[in-house]
Amino acid sequence: MAFLEIDQLSAFYGKARALSEINIDVEQGDIIAIIGANGAGKSTLLDSILNLTQTQGDIRLEEKSLTDLPRSKIVGCGVGYATERFNLFPYMSVQDNLLVGAFTARDTIEQNLSLVYKLFPRLQERKKQESGTLSGGERQMVSLGRALMTSPRLLLVDEPTIGLAPRVCVDIAAALRRLNEETGLTIVITEQNVNFATRIAKYLYVLETGKVQMSGTTDELTSNNELIEAYFGQ
Ligand SMILES: Nc1ncnc2c1ncn2[C@@H]1O[C@H](COP(=O)(O)OP(=O)(O)OP(=O)(O)O)[C@@H](O)[C@H]1O
Ligand SMILES: [Mg+2]
Repeated sequence: MAFLEIDQLSAFYGKARALSEINIDVEQGDIIAIIGANGAGKSTLLDSILNLTQTQGDIRLEEKSLTDLPRSKIVGCGVGYATERFNLFPYMSVQDNLLVGAFTARDTIEQNLSLVYKLFPRLQERKKQESGTLSGGERQMVSLGRALMTSPRLLLVDEPTIGLAPRVCVDIAAALRRLNEETGLTIVITEQNVNFATRIAKYLYVLETGKVQMSGTTDELTSNNELIEAYFGQ
């Protein structure tokens, strides 16, 4: 049994089908990336894990089905989600935005906060700054940090590099890799940025119009340049 099992998952917006019979297994401690163009269904897939869409099929974390649980219970099971639209509170400080993610015991909050600041020293320097005045990269760090405040065992990150300069992408990649190596956290990211995805993920899934078109280890897929070119023009 894999740590996370996505089993024949389909998702719908009203009558429109956004995902078709997706199967993904993630082993504990792995980083996997879902890559796909605009509208492929990346956000829908992560939203579906949090039960924010209408779905068929099953999603299990350590054999426990998440599909009928409300979002708060799914977060309580250890699923942290850094969404594409950060939804930070712009007039609140960095630290207060991080604390919004915390609903655990006091000492765990302290521990998580120090983990976030260790990972992103820049947030510690700016902990009193209003979040609305942060750069895009710093906002992404707060979004990741806030998801970490829930003490996740599985971290979902929707397009961590969207709108970010290459230099900042390198920092985000380093932080995610470090998090994975030092804490063993299992991470699922979505990306359009294939270079970023291949830099950190062990397995790749290529999503196109709601279907998995290819999957394999990063080494397998990146040695198949024709396929990558066909899908991403890179
Ligand atoms: N709330 C919604 N209501 C109706 N259709 C939706 C809704 N959200 C997404 N869709 C549709 O579902 C499909 C998948 O969208 P989704 O946002 O998951 O794609 P994505 O891969 O995350 O794209 P992007 O890279 O632009 O963020 C698209 O066709 C989109 O128009
Ligand atoms: Mg999206």
